Parts: sequence; structure tokens; C-alpha cells
Amino acid sequence: RTVLVLNGPNLRRLGTREPDVYGAATFDDLVELCRETGRRLDLHVEVRQTDDEAELVGWVHEAADARLPIVLNPAAFTHYSYALRDALAQRTAPLVEVHISNPAAREEFRHTSVVAGVATGTIAGFGMTSYVLALQAVADMLAAEAI
Ligand code: DQA
Repeated sequence: RTVLVLNGPNLRRLGTREPDVYGAATFDDLVELCRETGRRLDLHVEVRQTDDEAELVGWVHEAADARLPIVLNPAAFTHYSYALRDALAQRTAPLVEVHISNPAAREEFRHTSVVAGVATGTIAGFGMTSYVLALQAVADMLAAEAI
């Protein structure tokens, strides 16, 4: 089964972007980690990144139509994109919101997620391991559905 791992703005710059906050691992490292986790969990993982809100909304529509689960790091869109939230509300499969950092422990504007209320659940603050935990959660949900 295919799972989309979608990443919002600035996440392609992992490794050089504020390494004190987001760590030294690069976006390519993240892609490899997700694929490897997918192999272990018997999921086909497709990782994408965009800085463009319209493109991200389009991918969410695609997932809704194809009933694909999503692991989503909405990055800054988390905090203000009602367009993304409305797209995600159309979901037809599990949605896990992930963050590398713990937004609740950072600036005030990061304390609000407009996405959280339409997600199945949220995992934040574990670095890239947040994605591993999210994929594990998706695998468990799919296995439970199959019973
Ligand atoms: C982030 C947290 C957001 O507040 C921020 O805008 C990001 C990354 C994270 O993964 O920790 O771009 O989503």
C-alpha cells in the first residue's frame, strides 16, 4: 500500500537550515529514512516536498481521490493555511501530522496548528524519528483496518 510523505516549505533545506533547531541531517537523508522505514513496514513510501501551497493542496486532493494515507509535515503552513486544512478535511484515509521540532516549546505563533483538528493524530519533537513513528502509526492503522 502506498503512503504519501508530504513536506511543506523550506524542508528541502534540511541540513543547512537552522541546524540547531532541525538537526544536521539533509532532506535526502530524510527521504532515505522514510523509504527504509517503508521497506521494514511493508509500505510503499513516496516522499515529496514543495514550497508551493497550491501544489501541496493538489497532492492532498490526489490522496483523497486515491484513498492514500498521508504523513504530513506542513511546516509553516501548519500555523495559518486554511486552504490546506480544508483540503485535508476531505481525507479518505489516515493522516498523521509530523514536526521535527516541538512547536509547543517554540515561539507563540507556532503553538497553533490549523491542521491538527483534521488529522488522525500528531507527532512532534523527535527530530526525523517523528517520521518513523508516524509511518509506524499508519502501518498499525492499516493493519487494524484489514482485520
Ligand atoms: C516544523 C515546525 C514549523 O513551525 C516550521 O515552520 C517548520 C518546520 C517542524 O518540522 O518542526 O518549517 O514543521
